[in-house]
Amino acid sequence: MASDASHLVQRFGVSLARRAGLRSCAAAVLLVATIAACVAPAPDTAATAARSGSAAGPGAAWTPGLGELMTAIQLRHGKLALAGAAHNWPLAGYELDELAEGFADVQALYPVHESLPLPTTTLIPNLTHEALDDLRAAVDAGDAQAFDAGLESLTSSCNACHTLAHHGFIVIRRAAVVPEDGQDFAPPPARPGPR
Ligand code: HEC
Repeated sequence: MASDASHLVQRFGVSLARRAGLRSCAAAVLLVATIAACVAPAPDTAATAARSGSAAGPGAAWTPGLGELMTAIQLRHGKLALAGAAHNWPLAGYELDELAEGFADVQALYPVHESLPLPTTTLIPNLTHEALDDLRAAVDAGDAQAFDAGLESLTSSCNACHTLAHHGFIVIRRAAVVPEDGQDFAPPPARPGPR
């Protein structure tokens, strides 16, 4: 089980490093080593298992399950893609912040989760931090090409973690639409209309 996980981590670490453009072998090895170092002492997932997402009864505080948090992250990922495609950089920056907040919520509410071989506090930074930084730089520079590369790298991180979680059937791709047609993604100055 642990060796399975470490094999996966190694594979994903390497392909991620490659995708991230880490041409330096040392940098790739460091990334893999950082992640793999945490595989051996598998977290006691039974004892520290994430709280249930269901409310205990009337008046009980509702804690979103990991699936709910992920659904929100997915929506931000989709809106980020559409905002970037429309070159609406202020909106893209906003969605990027929201997406990062979603990952922060996952780490706060589910530092470990029974489906994952490593703490989310290890996995999320290691898998996503470079792509998020690249996306932030692309958004700040209004660089569509760098944005596309960053989004692809982020999307690969989503899928790498789903595979690690034995949820490889959840495949994220770049959204062409989001579930709701009720938001205009064009930047305001580009919007046609009466002046
Ligand atoms: C730290 C690992 C990790 C990362 C990174 C991650 N996910 Fe997930 N994701 C999971 C796990 C684990 C589940 C299954 C949750 C459960 O068991 O309820 C999941 C489930 C999902 C689901 C299914 C939700 C549902 O109920 O239909 C979606 C959609 C999703 N993730 C989107 C994303 C997107 C988009 C990204 C990247 C921007 C991402 N995830 C990044 C671990 C991750």
